[in-house]
Amino acid sequence: KKISMIGVPMDLGQNRRGVDMGPSAIRYAGAIERLQELNYDIHDLGDISINRPDQKINYNDGTNLKNLQQVIEANEELAKMVDEEINKSRFPLILGGDHSIAIGSLAGISKHYENLGVIWYDAHGDLNTGETSPSGNIHGMPLAVSLGIGHEKLTNTFGYGQKVKPENIVIIGARSLDPGERELIREKGIKVFTMHEIDRNGMSYVMEQAINYLQNRTDGVHLSLDLDGLDPTEAPGVGTPVLGGMTYRESHLAMEMLADSDILTSAEFVEVNPILDEKNKTANMAVGLMGSLFGEKLK
Ligand code: ARG
Ligand code: MN
Ligand code: MN
Ligand code: MN
Repeated sequence: KKISMIGVPMDLGQNRRGVDMGPSAIRYAGAIERLQELNYDIHDLGDISINRPDQKINYNDGTNLKNLQQVIEANEELAKMVDEEINKSRFPLILGGDHSIAIGSLAGISKHYENLGVIWYDAHGDLNTGETSPSGNIHGMPLAVSLGIGHEKLTNTFGYGQKVKPENIVIIGARSLDPGERELIREKGIKVFTMHEIDRNGMSYVMEQAINYLQNRTDGVHLSLDLDGLDPTEAPGVGTPVLGGMTYRESHLAMEMLADSDILTSAEFVEVNPILDEKNKTANMAVGLMGSLFGEKLK
């Protein structure tokens, strides 16, 4: 595999500063060396530049969406870069930044697939729209946006609409869903493995189900891994922690099973916030998971 690493120092999709330093924290934790060790040809394309708003929070177009214009611009840029790397047959590995960047990742990736699958490893569904969002934070909306649901300027990223079909999505680790998100999950029949299923059946069973499900219906799979999917005791450096999350061991098992299955065609690690972290623990966690995801066990 040839990997292209792209950093997106985005913190405008939510309220807490510091997550823009996520890409640096992950690089500092040794991401590149870790993958080189596994003999990948890895190109680090550096960080996208983010336009800072002149005020603390910008509301555009009379919506409740925070920093809409800046989030759109960064995602357009990201989509373009991701698209170019896939054209060169390289595997995009995107470092966040808050989860609003998944809008651009999926916009750049999905163009290349008829049926792109998505694994959303997260405490949250990120299925809100401006109407259902309790916060106006765009990082709580990227999965809805990629389904073509939400503000038109977001759903039209990279010049086309819906990026992902609801039946090609698997959410893993959910334990904090807003009422509007639950409704959307029901309405669209999105497959969700909550913490309840993981506790009850084990991560091994859940990942087996998830992988089989996607293998049969997709022609590529993107992993969108929000570090808040893990339990905050093990990954404290995140802006919206939720108790009762997936453990270090469950998460490594999940990554190893993905490595074994060889279904992934792109991945992103988001929401690492070194300001809220303990000695870069969460970035180190991300890099460890990358190691497993890219086949350390198989070496
Ligand atoms: N559901 C909440 C919201 O929409 C929290 C979203 C958290 N999302 C995230 N990517 N960490 O505001
Ligand atoms: Mn090279
Ligand atoms: Mn989350
Ligand atoms: Mn998320």
